[in-house]
Amino acid sequence: MSHPTPATATPTPDVPTALGAVRVCALDDLLPERGAGAIVGEQRVALFRLATDEVLAVQQRDPYSGANVLSRGLVGDRAGEPTVTSPMYKQVWDLRTGACLDPVGKDPVDLRVHAVAVVDGQVLLVP
Ligand code: FES
Repeated sequence: MSHPTPATATPTPDVPTALGAVRVCALDDLLPERGAGAIVGEQRVALFRLATDEVLAVQQRDPYSGANVLSRGLVGDRAGEPTVTSPMYKQVWDLRTGACLDPVGKDPVDLRVHAVAVVDGQVLLVP
C-alpha cells in the first residue's frame, strides 16, 4: 500500500489569508476518493478529495487508537454524505461535520473539521 507524500503547508501571499488559510497542496496532488496526510502549522490533518473534486479535511488523529492514520481510512458515504472509516477499529465519521456515525460499541467521539477551499487549483485550509 503506498502512502501519499505528506505535505508541509507554507503561507502564500496571494490567497485569502483573512481567515488564516494556508496553501496545503495543489488539487492535482490529491487522488479522488483517497486521503492524504498533511501538517499545517502544528496540526496534523487528513485531506480527502471527493469524486466531485470537493476537498474536505478532518483531524489526522484517530481518537480511538491515538494513531495519526485517518488519511488512510476508507472513503465512503451514508445517505449521500461523505464518510471516512478508520483503518484501525473501523469507526465511521461524517467528513463534513466530523460527527461520529458509528462508534463500533464505544462512546461516540467526533472529529475536528477544518475549513477547506480550492482556489485556482490550490487547496487552502484553515488550521
Ligand atoms: S500500511 Fe499504511 S496504513 Fe497500513
